[in-house]
Amino acid sequence: MPKHTLTTESGAPVADNQNSATAGPGGPLLLQDQHLLEKLARFNRERIPERVVHARGSGAYGHFEVTDDVSDLTRAAFLAAVGKRTEVFVRFSTVADNLGGADAVRDPRGFAVKFYTEEGNYDLVGNNTPVFFIKDPLKFPDFIHSQKRDPFTGVQEPDNVWDFWAHAPEATHQVTWLFGDRGIPASYRHMNGYGSHTYQWTNADGEAFFVKYHFKTNQGIRCLSAEQAAETVGRDANSHQRDLVQAIERGVHPSWTLYVQVMPAAEAPGYRFNPFDLTKVWPHADYPLRRVGRLVLDRNPDNVFAEVEQAAFSPNNFVPGIGPSPDKMLQGRLFAYADAHRYRLGVNHTQLPVNAPKATAAHNYGRDGLMAVNSQGRHAKNYEPNSYDGPVQTGEPLSAPLAVAGWTGTHAAPAHTKDDDFFQAGELYRLMSEEEKERLVANIAGSLSQVTRDDVIEKNLAHFHAADPDYGKRVEAAVRDLRED
Ligand code: HEM
Repeated sequence: MPKHTLTTESGAPVADNQNSATAGPGGPLLLQDQHLLEKLARFNRERIPERVVHARGSGAYGHFEVTDDVSDLTRAAFLAAVGKRTEVFVRFSTVADNLGGADAVRDPRGFAVKFYTEEGNYDLVGNNTPVFFIKDPLKFPDFIHSQKRDPFTGVQEPDNVWDFWAHAPEATHQVTWLFGDRGIPASYRHMNGYGSHTYQWTNADGEAFFVKYHFKTNQGIRCLSAEQAAETVGRDANSHQRDLVQAIERGVHPSWTLYVQVMPAAEAPGYRFNPFDLTKVWPHADYPLRRVGRLVLDRNPDNVFAEVEQAAFSPNNFVPGIGPSPDKMLQGRLFAYADAHRYRLGVNHTQLPVNAPKATAAHNYGRDGLMAVNSQGRHAKNYEPNSYDGPVQTGEPLSAPLAVAGWTGTHAAPAHTKDDDFFQAGELYRLMSEEEKERLVANIAGSLSQVTRDDVIEKNLAHFHAADPDYGKRVEAAVRDLRED
């Protein structure tokens, strides 16, 4: 096949791509060398702001297939019939480090799924853990500052990490997860995904349910010990990215089975745990798993920057039959993501192929802005209502209304029987085998013992004692041993 001619961005042929134009041999450069100026200027603009969290990630396309009838729970069209398939894009990520950070580190993993449904894109932006560290979005920027690189030393500081947790007893449950075996997944294929928050499903009769999503890996859970992880990072900092790309290229398509826990809306106020508290799970004995379908990843993106770096997932991209719960964290996230996208990618990020609807088209009166690339409706009017057959509202809310009561204010959450910050952390600890407990304690102690202030260590030890006396005793002894060394 004949080679293309090398051209400038505007398509003009380039005569020389090795020698800049100069004023005579050995002379200074000429400002008229359009090819040189464009090439350097273009290169300077290759990077865009990275995600403020979850900067390092990997993505792949695939599909979701419904395997079980859930039409009694939701009227979402993409879940309407057994056998129905919807194209998806999934991005996995680490949380704390910057773009270029290593993959095999102790950190939660993002598990973000974009379903390209015929009723619009539905984004489920979850993690590989069913709970989170905090339960109020007001704390999120402080939390993340404490976990990312310190502004002075430029590295993650155990002092900051544990100082935040010393003041956030509600984090004890997630901290127990993070320092346990599942804290370092062996690959993105070998971990579960969770919606983590409680969401609302509404069926065709308008009946509302609260649901929690669980994607269980069909590859089996595989994790790395702290030692294995250190060795992996040393050998290949991009281990999870390489694993995902290579598996899909080999035709080994990772899959997950989606289950939901379902709580009839009327049961929420009386449940022993606050169902909208993101630091707590619903034990399966209370709300068993109900199978929904299968998620399969079978296609690598053609270009990592265009499709993975520019992917924009937003928890407020809902479709009819699915909506938010009153979980305060979720409510905060409903604002944060699209705002981040407008900053990071611009107001027209929804026109990028990875973010645009695929199974339907967007029709609205949003216009113009930086990097508008679609036809903007040609003759179509850009105001509404109009007399020219422009798009019109449906009058049907996507989900059922949420009941609210009381006065505005900075309230603590409504009381439920089991509201303490430690019970479920203790339950998780008590579920572990002796070997798992030993590894958990060693991992925590290895990090906590690096903290320089005794009061910060003491406050954290108090949380482990409150979760389970044995847990507290063992972490305390292990920290003492390491600090005496
Ligand atoms: C990414 C904010 C809690 C999962 C992000 C981004 C922001 C953000 C601003 C970057 C978005 C972008 O630039 O594209 C927040 C706030 C939170 C919160 C304000 C709490 C109030 C959570 C929780 C989870 C989560 C609880 C999981 C259950 C993710 C994931 C990504 C992300 C998976 C990466 C999405 C992707 O792959 O593009 N978050 N977050 N976040 N967050 Fe959160």
